[in-house]
Amino acid sequence: MPKTEQRVEQKQRENWGSRIGFILAAAGSAIGLGNIWRFPYLTGENGGGAFIIIYLACVFIVGLSIMIAEFTIGRRTSLAAVGAYKSYSRRWTFAGALGALSGFFIMGFYPVVGGWALAYVFKSLTGLLSSPETIGDAFSAFITGTYEPLIWMVIYLALNVFIVARGVKGGIETAGKVLMPTLFVLLVFIIFRSVSLEGAVEGLKFLFMPKWEDVSGQTFLAALGQAFFSLSLGMGCMITYGSYLDKKENLQRNAAIVTTMDTCAALLAAIAIFPALFAFGMEPAQGPGLVFVVVPQIFAKMGALGVLLSAIFFVALTVAALTSSVSLLEVVTAYLIDEKKMDRKPAVYASSAVMIILCILSSLSLGVLSGVKLFGVGFFDFFDILTDKIFLAIGGMLLAIFVGWFVKKEDLKDELTNGGTVEFKLFEVWYNLIKYVIPVAIAIIAVSGIMAIEQTSLMLFGLAVIVVLAIFSKKL
Ligand code: PHE
Repeated sequence: MPKTEQRVEQKQRENWGSRIGFILAAAGSAIGLGNIWRFPYLTGENGGGAFIIIYLACVFIVGLSIMIAEFTIGRRTSLAAVGAYKSYSRRWTFAGALGALSGFFIMGFYPVVGGWALAYVFKSLTGLLSSPETIGDAFSAFITGTYEPLIWMVIYLALNVFIVARGVKGGIETAGKVLMPTLFVLLVFIIFRSVSLEGAVEGLKFLFMPKWEDVSGQTFLAALGQAFFSLSLGMGCMITYGSYLDKKENLQRNAAIVTTMDTCAALLAAIAIFPALFAFGMEPAQGPGLVFVVVPQIFAKMGALGVLLSAIFFVALTVAALTSSVSLLEVVTAYLIDEKKMDRKPAVYASSAVMIILCILSSLSLGVLSGVKLFGVGFFDFFDILTDKIFLAIGGMLLAIFVGWFVKKEDLKDELTNGGTVEFKLFEVWYNLIKYVIPVAIAIIAVSGIMAIEQTSLMLFGLAVIVVLAIFSKKL
């Protein structure tokens, strides 16, 4: 059988069963800890309303355009990230490899937080809520501890390995279908509780009345990085998902739906948390503990029902995290399978073995290893900042340059209109954004962020890694 035919046949087998299946999978990758855990605490640390407005601009101008571009390249080539770049030019292989590296490093801290979520299912059921006053202290004691968070992290990572080793379809998709809506419903429920607390208005003001004086170059970089992180962009994840997408699907509409769902989840989480936070008289800028401290406090006032709801909330959060982290592990695995010719199982085991080590370092960096610094930050922050503020943003910029300057405009138009059968009215707008505006905007934001940030050496290290990858592109 000729090669192309073989590929077509294979692709048909792997296509998403239905459009809703695809949207749920892509939204499953996007909606995760980034929305519920990270977005609220970044909003808290960056002054509230102004951050949200900048974030929304990043999402709908940069993020949505990049998502459309990733879907387009994925479906056009029917290949996962690295292969998609490579099929155009070997010089570009590094951009795909950078994506796999980003996935790898994000998996150096994501499972630590996934483990916290899992632990909180059990903690909710076994008495965490019985003394609301100590919830905050209990959280810091937990994450700075040595063995307990490690055990939960390993269980969480093991779940990922189990799922990815058997192929992503099946169990996890079904779990996602039930638990994602549950998460939305619970968030809405929490919002009602939260805003009805006395003093809640202050929280809403914090979210919706921007204080522009707090905005700096750093705020923009934080918002941009968060947009990429939350939408699973800049690392080839959505290229891979696009490669499974049916030729009849409308790419830009799917991208718009996924982007909107992801943004709604983030905003709901913020609206659920901040009114209660202000009502409880807590600090908005309290960092990564936010959701783990505020949500249990809200439920603590509700007796046995609260215990149950809190447990369900953390189950839903864990599953949302899982549907994201399996997509991260899958990008790394796909790289090893496609480029290094490994079999699926060894690829999953080898990459997760290294991830465990990174995660152990990350987890311990919050406790016993807090004195150990890499470019001025602990391991947890090292992996977090390196990926989110450098690799994903630069990955997105590379993709925009690649699509804007190295892929033929007619090809893009053909793919986005399904060979002229569907309309894409904003094609010219999208094309100019990708070709000119986004690369320049990311460059400006990256430079001003790098200059405003304390971790200049870390930023330079990240850029150096990218340059080295680019030099050795043909070997990757
Ligand atoms: N988008 C996921 C989240 O918000 C994290 C993620 C980033 C997943 C990049 C895949 C790729 O939690």
